[in-house]
Amino acid sequence: MTPILLRYGRHIFLRFNDGAKSRAWLRNMFQRVNARQREHGTGFTINIGFTHEGLKALGLSERALNTFPEAFRVGARGRANVVGDVGPHAPERWEGGLGGPDIHAMVLVRTDSDKGREEATRILQEEMGSAGGLEVRFIQDTMATNESGIGSEGEHFGFADPISQPPIEGADTPSYPGDGVLERDGTWRPLKPGEFLLGYEDEVGPGGTQMPEPFELRVNGTFVVFRKLYQDVAVFRRYLATAARSLYGSDDQHNRDLVAAKIMGRWPSGCPLDLSPDKDDPAIAADPDRRNNFTYEGDDEGLRCPLGSHLRRSNPRATPLKRATAVRRHRLLRRGVEYGPHLKDDALDDDGVDRGLINLFIQADIERQFEFVQAEWMKGGEFLGLDPSEQDPINGVGGEGSQMSVPGAKRPFLFDLPTFVTVKGGEYLFVPGLNALRGIIDQKY
Ligand code: HEM
Repeated sequence: MTPILLRYGRHIFLRFNDGAKSRAWLRNMFQRVNARQREHGTGFTINIGFTHEGLKALGLSERALNTFPEAFRVGARGRANVVGDVGPHAPERWEGGLGGPDIHAMVLVRTDSDKGREEATRILQEEMGSAGGLEVRFIQDTMATNESGIGSEGEHFGFADPISQPPIEGADTPSYPGDGVLERDGTWRPLKPGEFLLGYEDEVGPGGTQMPEPFELRVNGTFVVFRKLYQDVAVFRRYLATAARSLYGSDDQHNRDLVAAKIMGRWPSGCPLDLSPDKDDPAIAADPDRRNNFTYEGDDEGLRCPLGSHLRRSNPRATPLKRATAVRRHRLLRRGVEYGPHLKDDALDDDGVDRGLINLFIQADIERQFEFVQAEWMKGGEFLGLDPSEQDPINGVGGEGSQMSVPGAKRPFLFDLPTFVTVKGGEYLFVPGLNALRGIIDQKY
């Protein structure tokens, strides 16, 4: 049977104005949540996550509300300083009130066509209209170009994505060498489920993350971080050309791709620099058993793959770090999908269209996972022995004085990097398991 592709996404952000009416609406929508499309016969799937303010508005008890971890209670806006959402990324500039007290829930609709998306929205809005007591505050659409509908496979800067995803013990999703945790004998194993799903064994213990309470409220639930990340493609392309000319003497395609690869840690094809540092190898990129099968071992200085590249920062694998860190405790499930149309091939000037990546990061502990990666690994260089002010070239705050260096290389690397990616919104959400959702609706907690 041909699989149904759910490439069309819509994130609908809601405010609950009336707890009782909002619970009535949720009770009615319950049957659709998390259900597989074929099971309920409609052309779309629905997931729903709540902010701390949202759970409060739904009438969750003070006692239960207080058992949520601090990062979630404070929310994305309140944690902006912690994760480096400052300057161009600051919440004062975010869209639609995202991260603020008036966003209570995010409904994620995924479907197979634009028509299906409109149909799903019409049904949801009709139901909201008749329930009353809630309103739509912001809508964000996405359009995945790959078949699974969860990734972008050729995101706006031109890189294959996603490739590396942490596999979960007991889940029947495919996993490949390099995805999981590196064992002493060189093999890779999946991560314990509690790293991503509450109520299960994680990488340190049988119970996993112990918050929120009671157990029934957290079991089968998870935390999701929503990020709207604007990508300035024209500036990225111009920078590649300028850097290629100054480093390698010409801005031909190979040299531009080489600069892009140094920034990302993979060639645009997806082939990792660790396996092929000097030229792209499409055969590796096309082979799921090879393209993620590397550890950075033997490249402590970052001569093959720069220490400060996006890939090496976001999962340093076996890189010796300056601070003792268990890399397996900082993994993220990523669901990144594009929004906005691609900039025309070869265009070097911006067309004024909003485009970028909608990233959903899924984990059991926002502080230990998303926030740690963002704050420690993206926003500084110390953990790798680089200058403390050196940031991730993709997600940093650029500008005069910013740099990406390669210690030990004949010349330092990139200077005055522009801000290629700007945060336009963020949200911290709790996605309860189905029983917990029913309990929330029934005011059990
Ligand atoms: C617009 C912004 C971003 C772009 C264009 C981008 C792009 C990419 C690409 C092309 C890859 C390589 C594909 C792969 O290995 O799966 C990647 C990997 C990754 N990115 Fe990003 N990314 C962005 C933002 C972020 C942010 C904000 C985080 C976390 C705070 C993040 C975390 C990761 C992780 C964990 C990996 C996998 C690394 C590995 O396992 O080796 N990315 N990203």
